[in-house]
Formats: sequence, C-alpha cells, structure tokens
Amino acid sequence: MTVRRPAASRAVPLAPTIWSPVITTPAPHLPLSVWPTAQRTARTQRTGRYLPLSTEHPAKMLPAIARQAIAAYTQPGDLVLDPMCGIGTTLVEAIHLGRDAVGVEYEPKWAQLAGANLRLARQHGAPGHGEVVDGDARHLPGVVDPAIRGLVALVLTSPPYGASLHGQVSATPGAGVTKSHYKYSTDPANLAHAGHHALLEGMVQILIGCTRLLRPGGIVAMTVRPYRYRGTLIDLPGAMTRAGQRAGLTPLERNVALLAGLRGDQLIPRASFFALEQVRRARANNTPLHVIAHEDLLVFGASRSCSPPARKLRPAQLAHPEQS
Ligand SMILES: C[S@@+](CC[C@H](N)C(=O)[O-])C[C@H]1O[C@@H](n2cnc3c(N)ncnc32)[C@H](O)[C@@H]1O
Repeated sequence: MTVRRPAASRAVPLAPTIWSPVITTPAPHLPLSVWPTAQRTARTQRTGRYLPLSTEHPAKMLPAIARQAIAAYTQPGDLVLDPMCGIGTTLVEAIHLGRDAVGVEYEPKWAQLAGANLRLARQHGAPGHGEVVDGDARHLPGVVDPAIRGLVALVLTSPPYGASLHGQVSATPGAGVTKSHYKYSTDPANLAHAGHHALLEGMVQILIGCTRLLRPGGIVAMTVRPYRYRGTLIDLPGAMTRAGQRAGLTPLERNVALLAGLRGDQLIPRASFFALEQVRRARANNTPLHVIAHEDLLVFGASRSCSPPARKLRPAQLAHPEQS
C-alpha cells in the first residue's frame, strides 16, 4: 500500500497543555504493521453477533481489531482481560476464538449488556468462558477474582473518550440533525466525564493494576484514536503511550488499525458524520484537514517481572453462572 503525504498539510500545534509530554525523551521507533480491520463496516461486523442494544454504546471497539489482536498475542486456552469492557467486544471475540475472558465495566448498564453478549456468543457455539464484573477498574486487583493474578496473557482495552467523538445522527427534514447515544452515562465519576487529567491519572492506575494480573511475558494492547478538539489534533495515542510507561510498561509495537476499508492500494472511507462535518468546516476555512481513518493499536510488555500465579485457575471459575 502506498501512503501518500497530503499535498498541503499544515502543522497543528498540540493543545490543551494537559496533553503535553510528561516524559520528554523522543518516542522510541517501534515496529509497525497496518491492520486491515475495517474491510466490512462496523455494523456488518456486529450484526447477529451482538445484541441490537449494543448500538447504544457510544464508543465500541471494532470486532476485527479485537480478533486480530487476540489471535496475534494469545493462544487458545489463554486468559484475556478488558478492564473497561463496554459492551464486551474483547470478551465476545476472545471466547469465539477459544480463549477465556474477564471484563470490568463501571456502568451497570454496559456490564449487563456485555454479560448478555457473552451469553449470545455461547449460544452461537463460542468455546471459551467469559465473565463480567461491574466495578471501577482503578481498583482492579480488588475488583476481579484474586485467582487470576499472574494468569492474564493479554489485556486488550480502549480508553473512554469525551462526548465530542461519539454519537449517532438522525436527520429529519425541517428539524435539522439530532445527535443521540453520545454519552456512556451521566455519572461524573466515569473516566470519560472526569476531565483530561483525571482520565490520564485513572489510566495509569488501571494499567498498574493490569500489570499485577499479567502472567510473565503477558501483553497489554490498547486501541486508541487520535481526535480533533475544536479543530486541534489531540495526540491521545501519545498520551496513552506515556501513561503506559508511567505504569511500568514498555512499548513494543505501535500498529495502525484501519477504520477505512482497503481495496488494493485504495482506502474506502467509512468516516462518521461528525468527522466529515469537522473536515468540511475546516476546509471551508482554508484549513486542509484530512479525515482520521485509523486507530493506534499500542502494544506494551511488562517491564518488571510479575508475581507467580496465586493458584491455577479451573475453567469452572471463569464460567458465568448464567452461561455455563
Ligand atoms: C471506549 S469504551 C470501551 C468500549 C469497549 N471496548 C467495547 O467495545 O464495547 C470505555 C469504557 O470504559 C468505561 N469506564 C469508564 N471509567 C471506568 C472505570 N473507572 N472502570 C471501568 N470502566 C470504566 C466506560 O463506561 C466505557 O464503557
């Protein structure tokens, strides 16, 4: 695939200051692959595999991103954890691939939906076992079953974003455009609503908790999208890389998970209404922006050796009571 540099792109300063580097050393040069994870639309990827109510969650991971990461970094029978599991994409794809999965989600509504999606996956013949805990991942070791300490092969997650990035749009002639389903909840303690600083500090806490649960050689993978705030590009992947480093993780790879389809050397755009609208407005003001068509898939390893497993986990301990 040829990646062409935009003819007239302009450097956009990074702001607000909270996103400026905490560690001033240059980012390491990491191996990079491009993952064709949007060959089918998000809707097509989920239809029939997830409950229809899942569309109400404002920021779901593409199932193909979860599948490719789980296949790349784990083996059948391994344990996968998502500490902010939303509707349970990581968990559903993990159990379909014969892995076991544990998820934590702060909002009871999404935690219940993740449990229901897991049950649906089991009805569809998924061989793995999954469970969801409704809790605050900032206190991860106290929230999950202590038996999984030292057993997690892969943490696969994505951080919450502010409402500017999400939502569904409906257009009614004469009434204009309305936006819905753009919030995780109204709870100000949800990390998505807690402000940039609290989000970063919360992510460091969550990632420290994850490292305590990882098995030796375990991987933390995080899918995170750069986005624009009032026209300015926010380097959330860079901020999350530094959060990982502060949590004691070592960056290993920085992959490009495409949100656009790939046909030969052509990208098939799948941009949201909001992304297109933002770019149209910027171009009308002579700012030659381009639509963001990827998420970064940040991959870390634990720098410090983790403690040995507390005890061997039996599959029955992972079986959801209503699922098994
Ligand atoms: C980007 S979404 C994850 C979506 C998920 N990957 C999926 O495909 O459904 C981030 C999730 O983190 C949850 N969250 C926010 N703060 C949290 C916390 N302190 N502990 C656990 N979950 C939290 C939000 O409610 C939201 O569902």
